[in-house]
Amino acid sequence: MLTKERNFISTLSLVRRQLVSLYENSIEAPIIAILPCLLSNFPPKFLLKILRIQRVDNGRLQHMEEILNRYKKPIRALEIGTFFGDNSTQLLLKHLPAGSELFLLDGWQKYREGHNLKEDKYAKKMDSLLHLGFLSTIRNVVFNKLSSKREVKVTIIRGKSSNVLKLLASNTFDFIYIDGSHYYSDVKVDLQNSLRIINQKFGIICGDDLERMPTLSNMSLASKHLDNDFYQDFHPGVLLAVGEVIRSVNMKDGFWWTFVREGNITLRI
Ligand SMILES: C[S@@+](CC[C@H](N)C(=O)[O-])C[C@H]1O[C@@H](n2cnc3c(N)ncnc32)[C@H](O)[C@@H]1O
Repeated sequence: MLTKERNFISTLSLVRRQLVSLYENSIEAPIIAILPCLLSNFPPKFLLKILRIQRVDNGRLQHMEEILNRYKKPIRALEIGTFFGDNSTQLLLKHLPAGSELFLLDGWQKYREGHNLKEDKYAKKMDSLLHLGFLSTIRNVVFNKLSSKREVKVTIIRGKSSNVLKLLASNTFDFIYIDGSHYYSDVKVDLQNSLRIINQKFGIICGDDLERMPTLSNMSLASKHLDNDFYQDFHPGVLLAVGEVIRSVNMKDGFWWTFVREGNITLRI
């Protein structure tokens, strides 16, 4: 084996070890160690492919794709809750018209704290993966920049949405996708802020994890189970908050959306 190849493989092993340490210790220092490799040492596309850690397909996103494909001119879009920068983020990067701006907002920090919640293995696991998620998002954004001919300007914002959104000016975004915290009080604040920062002339607000329509009976059931992230077949916090703030929404396979036109929420355009 050539020295060059041997060096390459040993550096890949180092990167892998860094990732394992990142996962086990939940510290960010290895990110700093990996970034120079990402950006300079090796053929970036190859290395970036190796660093692809997680990909979960989500059938719900086809409905978001249909909405995004209707845009023909550049827009300004916001995603609340990016996690690994896969799924919805990839879709936005792929389908936003050239010249668009995309803002990715995530705390990448434990978000269960402060909520009086029942034990939930899935949410706990997500909390333990957030540092890896941050790294993966950077990777995906860099990879997209290197591999796509369409220019989409991406800004990554790390912070709790309730702290960040209130700093943003009214009328800023044409498209907002809400997929951050699923707990009632957080979703409610995300929705209220979104209604203010969405383009009042015409904008689309949408989100994930609304498995049932927010009818009065479903809202009543949800209000009794807000200490569960997931109850029976739905997210009580998302359902109650959407029902209270947005009221009427379109929903398909858990993906929900609504339009804002001349300052009013409307189901159709
Ligand atoms: C369900 S995941 C997002 C999944 C992503 N949209 C996708 O399609 O793969 C939820 C994300 O929201 C983030 N999050 C939770 N609460 C938040 C908050 N209050 N502010 C900002 N981000 C938050 C978490 O860190 C997590 O990465």
